[in-house]
Amino acid sequence: MLSVESKEVIRATLPAVGGAIGDITPLFYEKLFAAAPDLERNLFNRGNQQGQQQKALAGAIATFATLQVEPDQDKIDATVSRIANKHASLGVAAESYDVVHKYLFEAIVEVLGEAVTPEVAAAWDELYWLFARTLIAAEAGLYEAAGVSAGDVWRGAVVSARSGSEDRVSFTLAAADGSPLPDFQPGQYISVAAQLPDGARQIRQYPLDTVTTDGVWAFTVRRVADSTLEDGTPSLRGEVSNFLIDHVSEGAELTVSLPFGGPVTADGVAATA
Ligand code: HEM
Repeated sequence: MLSVESKEVIRATLPAVGGAIGDITPLFYEKLFAAAPDLERNLFNRGNQQGQQQKALAGAIATFATLQVEPDQDKIDATVSRIANKHASLGVAAESYDVVHKYLFEAIVEVLGEAVTPEVAAAWDELYWLFARTLIAAEAGLYEAAGVSAGDVWRGAVVSARSGSEDRVSFTLAAADGSPLPDFQPGQYISVAAQLPDGARQIRQYPLDTVTTDGVWAFTVRRVADSTLEDGTPSLRGEVSNFLIDHVSEGAELTVSLPFGGPVTADGVAATA
C-alpha cells in the first residue's frame, strides 16, 4: 500500500502527470532504447513505437495511480494479471524494472521540470516500485506455475503443418524434440519470436486454437495490409504476421513461449493478448 503522504501527493499531481503522458512516453523510450538498443530490436514491439501506440507502459502507471487514489481492487488485480501474463510470455526479468525506472523518471523530470519537487519525486517513486513489485511477484508466480525458472519461457517448436489461404494461415506446432507440448487453457496465447530479414527479433502474441489434440499447438495468423503513417513512413503493423505467412513453411523451426494469459476470471486470472 502507498503511504498516506504519498497518496495525497499522487492525488494532487495525477492530473499533471497523466496529462503529460503523451510527452513523457516518447522521451522515455528514446532514452531507454539509446541506452539499450537491443531492447527495441529484440524485445519490445517496434511497431508500437510508431504513431500513438506506445503509451501502454507509462499509461498503465497513470491508471495504477488512479486505482490507488480511488481504490478498486478488482481492477488492480485484472490490470496486474493482464500485464504480468504479457510480461511472462516475453520472459521479462525482475532486473529489467531498474532500467525502466531510470529512464521513465529521467523523462518525467525532463518533461515536468520544477514541478517535480523532491516530495513529488519520492511519491511517484514509491508508486512505481509498488506497481513493479506487484508485477514482479505476479510474474514469479506465473513462472513457478509453468514449472520454469524466471524468464525461461522460450522453446523451439517445429511447424508440423500449415494450412489456409494467402491471407489467413494456421500453423500447427510440435516440440522440436518430439515430446508433447504442455497443455494450455482456452484463451491462452503464446509469444512467437520471428528473426526478421533486417536481423531484428520481433515478438508477437497469438491465441492458441482450441481444436488441437493433446501435445500439439496451433495458431492462426491473418495478413495485415500494407499501410503508411501520416508522415509517409511505412507502418510496421503486421510485420511479424506477414513474415510468418510469407516465409515460414512446414518443417521450419520457430521460437515460441510457453502459453500464458487467458480470460479474466473471478480469481483474477489473466486477459488475452
Ligand atoms: C512498472 C513497470 C511496467 C509497467 C507498468 C508495464 C506495463 C506494460 C503494459 C500495460 C503493457 C501492455 C500489456 C498488454 O498488451 O496487455 C506492457 C507490455 C510490454 N512490456 Fe511492460 N511494463 C513495465 C515494465 C516492463 C519491463 C521492466 C519490461 C522489460 C524491459 C517490459 C517490457 C514489455 C514489453 C516488451 C511489452 C510488450 C509490448 C511492446 O513490446 O511494446 N515492461 N507493459
